[in-house]
Amino acid sequence: FAPKVLAGRKVLITAGPTFEAIDPVRGITNLSSGRMGYAVARAARQAGAAVTLVSGPVDLAVPQGVERVKVRSALDMHAAVMARAAGSDVFVGVAAVADYRVNNAAEHKLKKDTGGIPPIELIENPDILAEVAALKNGPFCVGFAAESRNLEEYAQTKRRKKNIPLIAGNLIQDGFGGDDNRLVLFDDHGSHPLTPAPKSVLARQLVEHIAQLLTGKM
Ligand code: C5P
Repeated sequence: FAPKVLAGRKVLITAGPTFEAIDPVRGITNLSSGRMGYAVARAARQAGAAVTLVSGPVDLAVPQGVERVKVRSALDMHAAVMARAAGSDVFVGVAAVADYRVNNAAEHKLKKDTGGIPPIELIENPDILAEVAALKNGPFCVGFAAESRNLEEYAQTKRRKKNIPLIAGNLIQDGFGGDDNRLVLFDDHGSHPLTPAPKSVLARQLVEHIAQLLTGKM
């Protein structure tokens, strides 16, 4: 039984990878199972929030009571988030958004017997989290940082660069694809390492931490 620490709050969450088309059957993506983001959505719902989950392509069931908006590319995710961000109290960016998309995506399938190796031209995607964080009177913003090393340094740098009050860091080797994870929360008070645990447990702890910062109890 979860305490309703987010009762009456509107929470917007991104989860999963994005997929950037090269042609109708090929694309660029990030590795992300979506499990951490879905666990955060479930935990926020259980804490009493009205939750909208903007999800990239993953193979997961919608958590009970959560509204899911399915998207594919970073631009789709950006549009879905920006349409809802101003009306939200909390935004949690868990998605592994592709940093770049293909600027010259082909309408028809590329054929390998014509034209040699296709040149793929990349163009930068919008930083969804940084844009939401820059909104005037926008939601309380929470980010995720998946790193392969130097977790504290990289996570804190991201937190300051995107100008967000809270970021949850994890090492890729600790959490990818699995049920368990090891998270460290970084905020203005410093770092808060959480005991390694199932993503469902960590999501509840993250939600409680968010609620405490929101209500100014920390
Ligand atoms: O910039 P970087 O990907 O390292 O930061 C990770 C955090 O930023 C995550 O919370 C992720 O969801 C968010 N992000 C985003 N839009 C992007 C890139 C990252 O919302 N284009």
